Amino acid sequence: DIPSFTLNTGYKMPSVGIGVWLGPDGGGEVAEQMCKTALQLGYRHIDTAYGYANEEQVGKAIRESGVPREEIFLTTKLPNHHHHRVAESLQESLDKLGVDYVDLYLIHWPQAYTEDNKTISYDESPTYIDTWRDMERLLGTGKVRSIGVSNFSVKLLEVLLKETTVVPATNQVECHPCLPSFELKKYCDEKGIVLTAYSPLGRPKEYDGKPVFLEDPDIVRIAQAHNSTPGQVALSWGVQRGTVVIPKSENPGRIKQNISLIKLADEDMLAIDAIHKKAGMHRSLLKYHKNSSDGRI
Ligand code: A2P
Repeated sequence: DIPSFTLNTGYKMPSVGIGVWLGPDGGGEVAEQMCKTALQLGYRHIDTAYGYANEEQVGKAIRESGVPREEIFLTTKLPNHHHHRVAESLQESLDKLGVDYVDLYLIHWPQAYTEDNKTISYDESPTYIDTWRDMERLLGTGKVRSIGVSNFSVKLLEVLLKETTVVPATNQVECHPCLPSFELKKYCDEKGIVLTAYSPLGRPKEYDGKPVFLEDPDIVRIAQAHNSTPGQVALSWGVQRGTVVIPKSENPGRIKQNISLIKLADEDMLAIDAIHKKAGMHRSLLKYHKNSSDGRI
């Protein structure tokens, strides 16, 4: 059984979910099949977004899986160009998913865009504070169980918590052994915010020819000692340190692997905590983090 974390709303969130970002076209039937396979193999947590362009396929997979809706923890996200129309955008997502509510609704990025995708500066309306106040209003509607944010730094969370009432249930950020975000994790723990790790495997395909932590000698050694794979080690480290992980896989064997986690010893955890300090491990991560400035190391 996959362990769950309890959110500050009292709802339980399974510590492993399937992430369904499949590129700009959403993946179509691949997304649908991936969700069906995951649900068959025991996943009860799916992470999508308006911007993933596959909410319809995710909804179809849920309906056709035979798994009751209420057993599945379903997350979707408000896109950057809809910050000025939070309630309407949520309704569009619910309609596409074909569900009455989502378990978790996130502001996908703190940065708001205009409808035609031009960035709006942080001091212009809607600021992320304005957007969060509209998110807070959703809590009484029965259409969301919990609300949260994504790609928020400590700095942004500090302002958000000072200016608004509801503490986000989760903050979803890129997080893995090369980007452990210790400071952000500590801050979220102190405030009762669950940190969700996206790309918890470090996007192995995007780094062809460069060092990838899944090939790191410490990870490989720990995997062999536990008769498991480097992917399972990275995900087990993520869950054991108290983050939710949402690996993406289209491959049934790896989908299955990714919810079969192992118990790591303290010394394994410490070895993985230190991997980001090794030379060559960071590569081009910085380019992804212009907007969520905290979090490296
Ligand atoms: P595939 O879909 O062929 O399994 P992330 O979630 O960090 O962005 O990583 C997703 C990438 O990692 C995908 O390319 C996926 O490929 C691959 N992947 C998923 N699970 C594993 C695993 N257990 N071991 C190695 N690679 C994996």
